[in-house]
Amino acid sequence: MQIVTVASKAYSDQRPGTSGLRKSVVTFQQEHYLENFVQSLFDVLDGYVGKTLILGGDGRFFNLTAIQVIIRMAVAAGFGRIVVGHDGLLSTPAASHLIRKNKAFGGIILSASHNPGGPDGDLGIKFNTANGGPAQEALTEAIFQHSLKIAHYHFADIPEVPLDCIDQHSFGHTIIDVVDPVADYAQLMQELFDFSAIKSLIDNGFQVCFDAMHAITGPYAKKILGEQLGINQENLLNCEPKADFGGGHPDPNLTYAHELAERMLSDTAPDFGAASDGDGDRNMILGRQCFVNPSDSLAVIAANATLIPAYKNGLSGVARSMPTSAAIDVVAKQLGIDCYETPTGWKFFGNLLDANKITLCGEESFGTGSNHVREKDGIWAVLCWLNIVAVKKQSVSEILLAHWQRFGKHVYTRHDYQGVETTSAKNLVEHLLNNLINLSDKQFDNYTIKTADEFSYTDPIDGSISEHQGIRLLFKNGARIIFRLSGTGTSGATLRVYIEDYCTDSNQYNENTQSYLKPLIHIADKIAGIKMHTGMKIPTVIT
Ligand code: G1P
Ligand code: ZN
Repeated sequence: MQIVTVASKAYSDQRPGTSGLRKSVVTFQQEHYLENFVQSLFDVLDGYVGKTLILGGDGRFFNLTAIQVIIRMAVAAGFGRIVVGHDGLLSTPAASHLIRKNKAFGGIILSASHNPGGPDGDLGIKFNTANGGPAQEALTEAIFQHSLKIAHYHFADIPEVPLDCIDQHSFGHTIIDVVDPVADYAQLMQELFDFSAIKSLIDNGFQVCFDAMHAITGPYAKKILGEQLGINQENLLNCEPKADFGGGHPDPNLTYAHELAERMLSDTAPDFGAASDGDGDRNMILGRQCFVNPSDSLAVIAANATLIPAYKNGLSGVARSMPTSAAIDVVAKQLGIDCYETPTGWKFFGNLLDANKITLCGEESFGTGSNHVREKDGIWAVLCWLNIVAVKKQSVSEILLAHWQRFGKHVYTRHDYQGVETTSAKNLVEHLLNNLINLSDKQFDNYTIKTADEFSYTDPIDGSISEHQGIRLLFKNGARIIFRLSGTGTSGATLRVYIEDYCTDSNQYNENTQSYLKPLIHIADKIAGIKMHTGMKIPTVIT
């Protein structure tokens, strides 16, 4: 086996964002682009020779091409074993589990999560470390710095590895195992949840509908929800992974999972609906004519966690990303456990999970997870809800209402302004930052600002500091408005505005969220000049 060294030229745009390096497919197709990033990764890592690498992706366009490139480079780098998903498929949480189970050095996951796929869509590459979680900022920054000066990369001159059958191959000192992407993960789910309680719920006529959005969770849903739990095939929608996600946008929210949303909001809706995203780490939970806000979903799971076998002894603590609503904080307070507030992005939960400071964590962006892996996990969240419903024998809306009656309701929305011109977005942020000092104690309608600041996080485990993590307007009555720019977009800028108010008047629990939050939505525009800076009258997406 020959190792070939190729002279390359560096690119200047390979800084990973909120979740790995995410770019258009066209960007990745540039000469040496993928190879440079992978070689930069291998060059800054240390101690992987002879160790195991987990490799797979969400099946989008370019997934298989990229996997073959990475196999050739990982063989050249001297990995001892490469575990690849059959057909190059692995959901993000399943990859995290395989890293942990195989005590691997780490894993490479190819995905642009919920971004569209296909030749005109996006691709991404993430590296996860030995704990199964996304690489921390210090590592991603080192990769980026290296990528700026990389001059060559190495690959092993080996034939394409057939990924369409489960088999073992060997090249030089490297063994390549092509594995079933679902089996180990399905086994883990069986260990965590009461499958027989969920199965009897379904056998007794509880109707569940799941939408895989033509993305990675299709095979997982067929096996776990279909074969093992007995959900009808016709209620498992879009379960064939497609390279372009069937032309859709694999983001589980009411806008993009519209087929499911229409079903669940109709008069003949099933009892329970759920969807997952491109790489299987996000989830949306719906009841009959009932949408569960992701921040509420996290709080409900935490409040009822002891009903689930894996968490029957209680939670060590919980965490949420800063823009996620404070619903979980109220639950934590009642449970007498710590609640941590981290910057946006799953990588910030890793240290807290590893140190057993927290058991559950989540983000408003349809991400929920626990210490079972080091990624958020869509199918896991669905099973949490089904397990809770099976034990409580209540509908989703009854569970939600009872939760609000006990803890109060955090009325919550996120407004996204996509495709904003980068300079305009930067101007908006700069203008806001310059004004923060003048905002304390200012009153707007019935809301008075308590604190106006830029969020900065000091990791309680390793002391690392992450600055510039979003602008917070915290009001005296508990309401919040948060502004931040997305770190996952691939063109222009996306402004995210998170708006939240705390309500304890049960007569208002059924009020429309946008109307309830109208005064705060106005205040957000008044303070930040959203319309003026973006030139947009309304948000592109509201969740
Ligand atoms: C978005 C979400 C964030 C999530 C990330 C990866 O990042 O807001 O919560 O962790 O996708 O799924 P953003 O585009 O806001 O930087
Ligand atoms: Zn995702």
